Order: sequence, then C-alpha cells, then structure tokens
Amino acid sequence: MNTEIVDNIRKAVDIVDIISRYVSLVPKGKNYWGVCPFHDDHSPSMSVSKEKQIYTCFSCGASGNVFNFIEDFENVSFREALKILGDIAGIPVDGIKIKNNNNINKNLYDIYDISIKFYTNNLNTNYGIKAREYLKNRGIDDQLIKTFQIGLSLPKRDMLTRLLVKKGFSNKDMVDSGLIIKSDYGYSDIYHNRIIFPLCDVSGNIVGYSGRIYNGEDESKYINTKETAIFKKGELLYNYHRAKEECRKTNTVIITEGFMDVIRCHSVGILNVVATMGTAFTKKHIMLIRKLAKNVILMFDGDSAGAKATESCSNLLMEYNITPKIVRLEENLDPDEYVLKYGKEQLIQKLENPINIMDFKLMNLKNNRDLNNSTDKANYVKDVFTELKKIDDDILREVSLNKLSEDVGLNIEFLKEKLDYKKNNQTTYQTIKPIIKQEKNKSKYDKAQMYLIYYMLKSDKVIKMYDEKVTYMPNEKYRRLATYISCFYKDKGYIYIADLMTYLSQFEGTKEIIGEILNLNLKDDYTISEINDYIYTIKEYSLRDEIKRLKKEQEKEIESFKKAEIGMKILELKKMEQEERYYDK
Ligand code: CTP
Ligand code: MN
Repeated sequence: MNTEIVDNIRKAVDIVDIISRYVSLVPKGKNYWGVCPFHDDHSPSMSVSKEKQIYTCFSCGASGNVFNFIEDFENVSFREALKILGDIAGIPVDGIKIKNNNNINKNLYDIYDISIKFYTNNLNTNYGIKAREYLKNRGIDDQLIKTFQIGLSLPKRDMLTRLLVKKGFSNKDMVDSGLIIKSDYGYSDIYHNRIIFPLCDVSGNIVGYSGRIYNGEDESKYINTKETAIFKKGELLYNYHRAKEECRKTNTVIITEGFMDVIRCHSVGILNVVATMGTAFTKKHIMLIRKLAKNVILMFDGDSAGAKATESCSNLLMEYNITPKIVRLEENLDPDEYVLKYGKEQLIQKLENPINIMDFKLMNLKNNRDLNNSTDKANYVKDVFTELKKIDDDILREVSLNKLSEDVGLNIEFLKEKLDYKKNNQTTYQTIKPIIKQEKNKSKYDKAQMYLIYYMLKSDKVIKMYDEKVTYMPNEKYRRLATYISCFYKDKGYIYIADLMTYLSQFEGTKEIIGEILNLNLKDDYTISEINDYIYTIKEYSLRDEIKRLKKEQEKEIESFKKAEIGMKILELKKMEQEERYYDK
C-alpha cells in the first residue's frame, strides 16, 4: 500500500465535513456529536474530533478515521473508500495496490455467481417460454429482467447440483449456500420450476433468492433462501444498493412490502424504493434506512394487514426520531397493482402528497368510533394524546392538536394544557445525553495497560518508554495493539492517531480496542511518574503471573531437588519484583 498517497488523501479532507454529509453533527465542546450510524442508537453518542481527525462512539465503541467511516457506512472495501475520498480531494488513486482480504465465505459468493448465470440463462432458452410469457403479462419487460437479474429454475431437480459438483464445490459448501438440500436420495436443488429473483446484500452481492411459482401450481407463492452465513433476511432491504444513489439525491426513501412493488416502481422511473420482503421491520432495517435518506415514505399494501404494518413500522421509526410519511392505496391494492390499474401519474401524485403520520393515526383512531358518543370521544382524545407524545415535531403536534380540537369540539388551549401536563408527568421518548459506558470491572492490570496505550497514542515520549521498559504486556489484545503502535512509530517517526488508524486497518479487531481505550477519556496531560506506575504495574503482573505458574509447577513436582530448583527461581523473581518497584520509583 502506498501510504503516502493514502495519508495525503486523509489530510486533504476534513473528517467533520465528510461525516456531516451522512450524519448531522452538532458542535459541543471540543468535538462534534451525532447519532452513531453503526449501532441502533437514538441519541448522539458518536463524537467526531476535528483535531484528531477520528470518530469514536461512546456507546458501541466504533472508532476510526475518515476511511474507516466510509468503509463501514457505505459497506465498501478500503480501496473503494479511498476512491470515494480521493475523488472528493481531487487526488487520483488508480496506481495504488491494496491486497484484498481473504473472504471466508468466498465459496458461497462464488456459488451465487455461478447459479445466477445458470438461472438467467435458463430464462432465455426454450424452457423459459412460459415464464417469459408470465413476466410479460405482468408487465416485466426485458430491460427489467436484466436490471433485476431475474432468472428461472427448471423442473428437473438436480441441475444446479450437477453444475456445482462439476465446478468442484464440496457438498458442505453446496448445502451451506442454502441452494442445495441433502435428502435420502442424495443432493438436490431447492429451486425448481420457479422464477428466480436474486436478493442482494447492501454491497450488491447476490446472497439469496426468492423463487415464485408462475404456472398455477398450488404451492406456496414464494420460496426464500434460508438464512445462511451470508444471507440474513432481517439485515437487508431489497434493492438497497440500486436505490442508494437516488435516495441520497432526493433525500427520500420509499419503503414497500414486496419486491414486485419495487420492480414496478422502477419500471415507471421511481428509483428510490426498497422493500422489506414480507418480514417484520427490524432495528437493522432502520439503521439501513437511516443511511439512505432523512425522509421516509411508507407505501405498504392497501389492505388492513398493510395498514397494521404501517402502524407498527412507523412506531418503530419514531423511536429512532424518524417521522415517516404515509401513502395509503385504495381497494386493497399493492403498489404494483395500483400502477397497473391507475397508471404511473396517479402513483406519483400520491407519492408527492403523502399523508403525515398524525393524520394517518387520527384516521385510524377515529375508525369504529362514534364521536357523538362521550365515551368514544374521551377515549379518542386519550389515544391521540398517547400518539402525540411520541412525536418529535412541534409544528406537527400543534397542527394535529388543531385537528383534534375540531374533531371533538374542545377548546385547543384546554387540550394543550392537558397534553403538556401529561407530557411533563411522563418520561419522554428520548433523551439527548450521550450514554457513556463505564469501565466495567477491569482489573488494575488491564487498566494499567489501557492507560499506557492511551498516552502512547498521544506522545512519542511514552512510546519510547514503552519500548525501553515494557518487555511483555499480559493481555494479548493490548499487547498486540501496543506492538502495532510501536511499529507504526518506528516506521513513520511520528504518532498521529488518524494515520495510525489507517495502518491498523490491516489488523483485524484492533480498531475496536482503540475505541475502548479512547473512550476512557483520560486527562490530557500526564506525568512521567504516572507512566512509570503503569509500567510498573504491568511488569508486576508479568512477574506475579510467572511466580504463580512456578508455584503450581513446584507443587506437582515429586523429585525434591527439582522442587528446590523451582523454589530458587521463585525467590529470584520475588527479588526482581521488589527491585523493580525500587528502581522505577
Ligand atoms: N413473501 C414471501 N412468501 C410468501 C408471500 C410473500 O416471502 N409466501 C414475501 C415476498 O418477499 C414478497 C413480500 O412478502 O415480496 C410481500 O408479499 P405479497 O404482498 O404477497 O407479494 P407481492 O409483492 O404482491 O407479490 P406478487 O405480486 O407476485 O403476488
Ligand atoms: Mn402483488
């Protein structure tokens, strides 16, 4: 890796500026604060330091420099992150070589690579005539087939199995891919005689399929690939990678229930659409949604199940301070059917005028209630209050109160007073203080190692002290990190944490440890004697550890002269332990 260009790109961009493009940051003290996009958080626990050019999350420990942020946020490789930032900085990166990390699931991805070629090809053969006809009847043309890589599995039950065997995949890989099943008769394909819709992960790799019946068999409509090492249904959204750009451009993401709705929207030029694929909405989904756009439109099926899903999904979104807008479709239609029946313009019209969440809720709460009946009316007001308290938007709350006042004929001031009273007497939905994790019961030895590393990150003087005096850190993870820091320093001749982060990217798991250590938030200045204390504690541990080990060995030993020999060693170490203390103080 040509680290000079990499460091130059890092220096040419400002981490606060870059992260602000994705997460809103608020300055507070020395740092900027925002909601961490890397765990399911509600409140700003991520700090971004202009001075250090790094981010750290107090809550989940995520930390890194600007490259790490782009890698994790965009789910891209280091190479791609470099390219994105190089473009912004105006520094070309074409010449840089970065070795690819070996992917442990490479075989599974390869199986999907081969199988999608096989399935898409099937659709174009004579066996695919009926399926093509089915797609055509549903208004799915060749361009859409190509874009969404729609394919076909044939009636014979072992065609993919044979192909994969021929390509040299093991039985285990085939079964692990979720595409092949082992039965009493041997191995066979999961998918036969179904139209194949690929499902992609957030980076656009195919990781699963949904297979649809198409010639009237009386079987379940869709068969989805089971969860595998690379396919987690609750962690992906259909069309995420294709919709990403358009979502960011329009700052709006439209969510539907089914992937046919996504494909239909795409066919009429609405590109910022993703789907959950029939599963319940998860926190992981919300984290993905949050990365796409600020404005969220829920356009679920028009039936009552769709209304229920809208309700529960918007409640979950609001827990994360996202206030969605709602589109409801008449006659129980889903978006796909709606476009086919009423046309593109009518759907666009709906999307341009979505109902706000409170109107949707008022509408639902009014349903089946007779507002001329006092009990119904009182219950209605109570329910609306409950909903209003979840709203994080003052204007919307005021507007809704006005509507409520009209609905029930009660004075708005009276309602406001009641609502405020209730609000003050209840804990509100969210707190805005950062959650600071306590150092949970760390031993004094772990602390000494962490503290020492903390100051190694700040000063080359401390690195030098470490190099001279610490021979061995007892805790493996701190030992590794300290060694890397020392190597980085020897290599570069300076210590700057943002560049160190780039260097650490090649060592799995070290970024998290740095995050943990940075979160200690120790005071800026230190004294040499404090550093010596940490070093002493570390050495003391190593010696005690060795003494403990020797004592055990001594107990087990039967020959008495060997016992005595070990005893001598123990004494020596004990003496060292005392001298150590004396010397360093
Ligand atoms: N789904 C599923 N298994 C089923 C039915 C549905 O996995 N038996 C998932 C699919 O991902 C589908 C989503 O739930 O995209 C929504 O279901 P549904 O509304 O029934 O599907 P449609 O999008 O209407 O599909 P089609 O128009 O092909 O009937
Ligand atoms: Mn449908």
